[in-house]
Amino acid sequence: MGTLLRRVIGAILAIVVLMAIDHTPAYAGLNEAELATVVQELSTAVVEIESLDALRSGLAATLEGAATEPTMQTFKEVCKPVGMRAKQLSEEQGWQVRQVAQKYRNPEHAPANLYEWQALEQFQKHSELTGFWQPETLTDAAGNSQPGIHYYRRIDVEPSCLACHGAKDGRPQFVKERYPQDLAYNFQPGDLRGMYSVFIPALQSAQ
Ligand code: HEC
Repeated sequence: MGTLLRRVIGAILAIVVLMAIDHTPAYAGLNEAELATVVQELSTAVVEIESLDALRSGLAATLEGAATEPTMQTFKEVCKPVGMRAKQLSEEQGWQVRQVAQKYRNPEHAPANLYEWQALEQFQKHSELTGFWQPETLTDAAGNSQPGIHYYRRIDVEPSCLACHGAKDGRPQFVKERYPQDLAYNFQPGDLRGMYSVFIPALQSAQ
């Protein structure tokens, strides 16, 4: 993405983030430098997710019009790199980056909490909503709570996705074999496929 676009996104985010977190205890009392870091992190998340989404669309487009059925090898070149990049981003940045879908193929991508269900519902209801963020406090399995900002970005179905997410019977053999509990089929172009979910923990100093 161009430098100018990044700057514009950064500037808009700076204003909107400040408005959103102004009254959130985890972010109260941050100094200017700390606030700048929060804004920087969120704008990095937005940019990274856009490039993750473009990666999948680009890879899927290469399959369009292909004469042969997608194989395990082709799959490795579409949705798997997206999952791998999400894991890598989590490690590099200290975020929790996931894909979430109500009709999921990989059970790891089922909605994990009420926030995720509500976010999916928002995207379902408002087809013009591309993404949003909100302050949240997540509780892990051990009962520890972690405040932060949660960024959500919709994923829509494109014609190129139907090779693997179209009619149930038309799914590639490897999908039928590998995902016996698969729910991610019978989609139409323009349907909500799911969302990216990025949790950015609050700065240590802010807690
Ligand atoms: C070559 C087959 C193939 C194509 C084409 C394909 N997908 Fe997938 N997709 C898969 C498989 C297989 C998985 C499960 C990956 C895993 O185990 O994490 C998956 C998983 C996903 C997930 C994660 C949620 C879930 O259900 O587990 C999303 C979101 C997704 N695909 C969206 C898309 C979109 C959007 C397109 C088109 C731009 C697309 N896919 C094209 C095979 C494909």
